[in-house]
Amino acid sequence: MIRWLALLFAFAWSTSTGAVPAPRNESPLHPVSVAADTLREPPVLVNRSSTPRTVEVFLTAAPARLALSPGRVTDAYAYNGMVPGPTIEAHEGDKVIVHFRNNLPETTTIHWHGLHIPADMDGSPLHPVPPGGVKDYVFTIDFGAAGTYWYHPHPDVRTGYQVAKGLYGAFIIRPAHDPLPPLPEKLLILSDNRFRRDGSIDIPAPRSTAAIVDEENGREGNVMLVNGQVMPKIRIRSGEVQRWRVINASAARVYRLAIPGQTFLQVGSDGGLFEHPTEANEVMLSNSERVELVVRGAGAPGSATTLQTLPYDRYMPQTRPDDWNHPRNLLALSYTGQPPTIPVTLPRTLRMIPVLDTTKATVHRVIVLSQGLINGRVMDMGRVDVNVKLGATEIWSIENVVGMDHPFHLHGFRFQLLDRNGVPVRDRHWKDTVNVPKHESVRFVVHFDAHPGKWMFHCHILDHEDHGMMGILQIN
Ligand code: C2O
Ligand code: CU
Ligand code: CU
Repeated sequence: MIRWLALLFAFAWSTSTGAVPAPRNESPLHPVSVAADTLREPPVLVNRSSTPRTVEVFLTAAPARLALSPGRVTDAYAYNGMVPGPTIEAHEGDKVIVHFRNNLPETTTIHWHGLHIPADMDGSPLHPVPPGGVKDYVFTIDFGAAGTYWYHPHPDVRTGYQVAKGLYGAFIIRPAHDPLPPLPEKLLILSDNRFRRDGSIDIPAPRSTAAIVDEENGREGNVMLVNGQVMPKIRIRSGEVQRWRVINASAARVYRLAIPGQTFLQVGSDGGLFEHPTEANEVMLSNSERVELVVRGAGAPGSATTLQTLPYDRYMPQTRPDDWNHPRNLLALSYTGQPPTIPVTLPRTLRMIPVLDTTKATVHRVIVLSQGLINGRVMDMGRVDVNVKLGATEIWSIENVVGMDHPFHLHGFRFQLLDRNGVPVRDRHWKDTVNVPKHESVRFVVHFDAHPGKWMFHCHILDHEDHGMMGILQIN
């Protein structure tokens, strides 16, 4: 194992620049590796506004005929005709206007996962867009929100189906001044899917055995996709340093990311950059979590390795897949022969994250997760489960009382982890989703500082969410 954190701060690094940068999507913000990757990234949506600090885009969800599995065209759903959907990019402080049109044969919404925006713009199941309907999503991006987010449908009971059909995309927020130096940047949207022999998407018939297993495990697929591609390749020079933004868009698969033979430097998670980079041999990513990684070309020129996901036992024993205990390859990483050139150093401190003061907490809540239930109940669109006073700071204790992991997500408000099973979490960072492993508990502190209205909280295994493992929070 190559240890390189110590080197990181002590010496200047080398990275690839100097060659003619190839155009990367439509956003020439970052230098690009010289050799061609086979990894493609969704194009960045064109900003149609000429008003400063405004991002105005058009997004349509519609049926499409696409090759979701290699070589086989099938009936899919797509945003602007592509899977994943186009990437939306904005800066902190920008006003964002998304003109959305639903050309699907069913009701949908777009949920802006992780964004702190007005409740009626959140795309929750309470604000459906019917077939043929339109909605303008209008919101302003907070300062301090820079990070990697994503968008996906969130209609009542149909989220898993619509995501499986192809509806998901990335939403990247950039700060005015990024604390990291300009590095070649890659977006990796991880997903998995299951197909029948004819290439159609394998969604089991309701009440079949397969459907019951999916309902318990969450639907996993044996085809691993990065930006919709099977085993794409990234080339990296020996010594080159790249910045990867990784999104888990899978319905249920949890990733334990590792690159055999080298470490990562994790620089951020759901709500943007950490205060300090941390070196890791592997990085766990539960459903809808995001990470930002700094990856170094650590191998010998001409050699290759893979980005893998290592086995992780999140399952109930009776429905655990037989092949769960195998690593799976996601992406090829090949070390090119070109010599490294321009040195680069990373800052020791990326930013300061303000502390949410736990002494201000007026309410301590316990949220119990059991199989398919939150606090013993299934979701009811007409019920409010939790009442919160606008401006309150609260401590939530999420307690998983069953033998399966449940990734817990709160809409609209990012939080800071306090402890896991009573053991303090030392590093302060912003989260909107946290995995709660079987029979474990997690506590976090959250400040409901704005945006009154109704908000969702739920398990982000999409099958669990759709079957009612969700509650409604009302802020007054
Ligand atoms: Cu990714 Cu309720 O959301
Ligand atoms: Cu969300
Ligand atoms: Cu769950």
